[in-house]
Amino acid sequence: MTLWGGRFSSKFNEQAWDFNTSLPFDQRLALQDVRGSVAWAGALLKAKVLSPDENAVITSGLNAIADEFSSGAFLFAQSDEDIHTAVERRLGELAGPVAGKLHTGRSRNDQVATDFRLWMLETLPLLDQAIKGLQKVLVTVAERNQSVLMPGYTHLQRAQPITLAHWFMSHFWPLQRDRDRLTDLRDRVAVLPLGCGALAGTAFEIDRVALAEALGFDLPAPNSLDAVSDRDFAAEYLFCAAMMGLHLSRLSEAVVLFTTAEFGFFELDDAYSTGSSLMPQKKNPDLFELARGKAGTLIGMLTGLMAALKGLPSTYDKDLQEDKVPVFQATDNLLAVLPILGQALETMTVRSERMRAAIDSTMLATDLADDLVRKGVSFRDAHAAVGKAVHLAAEKGVSLEQLSLAEWKSAGPFEADLAQAFDPMVSIARRSAVGGTSPTAVFQQIQKAKSIIQGDQS
Ligand code: ARG
Repeated sequence: MTLWGGRFSSKFNEQAWDFNTSLPFDQRLALQDVRGSVAWAGALLKAKVLSPDENAVITSGLNAIADEFSSGAFLFAQSDEDIHTAVERRLGELAGPVAGKLHTGRSRNDQVATDFRLWMLETLPLLDQAIKGLQKVLVTVAERNQSVLMPGYTHLQRAQPITLAHWFMSHFWPLQRDRDRLTDLRDRVAVLPLGCGALAGTAFEIDRVALAEALGFDLPAPNSLDAVSDRDFAAEYLFCAAMMGLHLSRLSEAVVLFTTAEFGFFELDDAYSTGSSLMPQKKNPDLFELARGKAGTLIGMLTGLMAALKGLPSTYDKDLQEDKVPVFQATDNLLAVLPILGQALETMTVRSERMRAAIDSTMLATDLADDLVRKGVSFRDAHAAVGKAVHLAAEKGVSLEQLSLAEWKSAGPFEADLAQAFDPMVSIARRSAVGGTSPTAVFQQIQKAKSIIQGDQS
């Protein structure tokens, strides 16, 4: 019943069969397998292994199989070890004995690597679109919140005032780098393994350059041994996925924190919040916690695959069958989480008064020092003078604003005009160099982001 039964005298053990099969997960490559086979038949025709009639019968059988997969009518058989054998078995049923010619000069080793790459070439744009969807939301919420002020943090301690728009946009750019990485990756995915046979190459006159072109690849793999064992593209894909997961996790962690009663900066819409089975008052940010959790799983998938690859003897080893599950799972996770986070962010309420109230006058300490610098004091001396004033205020248990002018003067060369620094908007407006938090700089940043999103709209 198997493709390779010829040299065996007894049947493969049933439990071993279940352990060995990849059909439960590689059936996802069905349409790619058929596409690869149609192109391979075309290459065999050119190589005069198939006659035009034989190619026509095989091709129409393969097209019928693709229709069966698309409509859900395809029936798997007990003997189908993986998607490649399932397609070949069905082709035999539809096209008759000529189907047995299709596998000439080809191995499942070059076939599976080809199918997987074809699948990835089709999936990269889907992922790109999904990331872009979240980017669009970030731009929308940034535009809405250009005049909302909030504390910016380092070490999770209040540091300097910023605008909420600037904060939202800080999550746009990492996603842009993720998209750039996927674009770069495409070139390394678009290298064709088909025509490399099991390991040593194909013994028939296959035009691999034409074959690559027919399947939408840039070029044929230059070394057959490398071609059937190379899974760099899968590891790189998982790195991109893990990095994306990490970015989404950092955004999610901030949302989890900012929706607490302690911060109270954001409130999630009921449609994107969950409750507790025990505590009636709870409103939980489960979706963001899940997104944070998935980052850990994604990182695990990358390390898992790399560990599986690291000691493999040349060339194909069955360990390589383990490459598909994490890649599919990572893809499903990301395609699910990206739109959900976008919807939840777009519908959440911003508590601008809470954010504004969280900006205290000590966060303007840098600006007070900068003001002294503008009057000719060195930054180090200015830093020390403001530090003294902060210490004085802390000792007295008052805010910086409440210190008297005499007290300020005891700390350094301050004058009455120091009070202007206590307006956080002044602090923000000063940071107008490219990339800063001033409204004009943020506006330019948003315009740039929009042109990136619009410029590459497909
Ligand atoms: N199911 C296999 C995989 O995913 C296909 C290649 C099998 N090749 C082999 N020599 N057993 O890797």
